Amino acid sequence: MSDRSQLFVNAAQVVTCAGPARARRGAEQADALVRDRVGIAVGADGRIASVAPDAELRAAFPYAPLVDCSQGVLTPGFVDSHTHAIFGRARYEEQELRATGVGYLDIARRGGGIHSSVRDLRNRSADELAALATTRLRRIAAHGTTTLEVKSGYGLSLESELATLRLIRRLSAEVPLRLVPTFLGAHEVPMEYREAPRSRDEYIGLVTGEMIPAVAAEGLARFCDVFCEPGVYTSDETRRILGAARAAGLALKLHADELENGAAAELAAELRATSADHLAAISEAGIAALAGAGTVATLLPGTMLFLGRQKQAPARALIAAGVPVALASDFNPGTSPTVNFSLVLTLGVSQLRLSVAEAFVAATVNGAAALGLAADIGQIAPGFQGDLALFDVRDHREIPYWYGDNRCVGTWLAGRPAHPG
Ligand code: NIG
Ligand code: FE
Repeated sequence: MSDRSQLFVNAAQVVTCAGPARARRGAEQADALVRDRVGIAVGADGRIASVAPDAELRAAFPYAPLVDCSQGVLTPGFVDSHTHAIFGRARYEEQELRATGVGYLDIARRGGGIHSSVRDLRNRSADELAALATTRLRRIAAHGTTTLEVKSGYGLSLESELATLRLIRRLSAEVPLRLVPTFLGAHEVPMEYREAPRSRDEYIGLVTGEMIPAVAAEGLARFCDVFCEPGVYTSDETRRILGAARAAGLALKLHADELENGAAAELAAELRATSADHLAAISEAGIAALAGAGTVATLLPGTMLFLGRQKQAPARALIAAGVPVALASDFNPGTSPTVNFSLVLTLGVSQLRLSVAEAFVAATVNGAAALGLAADIGQIAPGFQGDLALFDVRDHREIPYWYGDNRCVGTWLAGRPAHPG
């Protein structure tokens, strides 16, 4: 919030994504409503008051300070609805291992992968993790993202899961991003529950009987997620965990059909999950089920790229079936260590075959819908938060085009400068 209204003027283009405050599907997703020669008035309350030609805005708000956007193109701040941003060390050694042919789940079976991040996180103090996360989150903000979902899931014990979620809450006040917390206690079955006398069933009992009630009682998360995948959590286990989460008042997400099909998209639809994420191995039946349920399909093309897998999620078939598609980074130390959301747009167009407009809607309005926030963020229209990103380009299609580059020169959160802060 600023102490008074301000006007964002002189932009070459404004990608508004304006329209209904809900997930966009089918042909709706193909209209990002790009406007030339308009500016944006953001009120003292941090919300967008008007989108109109600059001259009209200046007449309507004669005393408002001007933010000169002649450097380029304004977009809604990106809404990255799937990340695992709280972690300790980088897992660069696994990238090379995979290049020699060792699979992602093989690395996990050897005690690497998620387990390696769990061992590491449990040995770090909250301050150490906060320092690491703050640097990474600032880099994310510097690439045009203004809202970030952040999952727990590298603690896998009552104390470390709660500590991770408390850290996300603390960081919300310290970093220039809106953070949306998700409880992912079922990211893996921790090593200590894999052998007698303990069991995976006992761990699931801990998740449903102690972790979820504690998370809900402290109001630490908005969503509960499960890595539902052959070799990780089964459909029945996922149903049990998400049933407890729903009963505790959490909304639902699933890591679904990421590597191998396990009818997880169908389960997401059955549970009326807010989103089903990954979906590189979704079936025809899964696509139809998501379409019927109105669940957002959150696609993470950076993950498949970084894992070196040939198969991307069938974005065109999802859109054709009427499933709203969101794009997210999956920022995490194992499968997608990128902070660059423009690169995710590049992959959306060049790998998933989205149009540029579809990719922008996926990165804004549909990302917001995947977080239950479509009424508040994700578009440049009156009443929405003044969350904006400015890019040093003349045409919005250059944002996915200059791949790997960062053209973002500024972001604002509710009208306040977030980057540079
Ligand atoms: O979304 N698939 C599960 N979780 C992450 C990877 C986590 C990790 O490898 O640390 C993902 O790809
Ligand atoms: Fe993930």
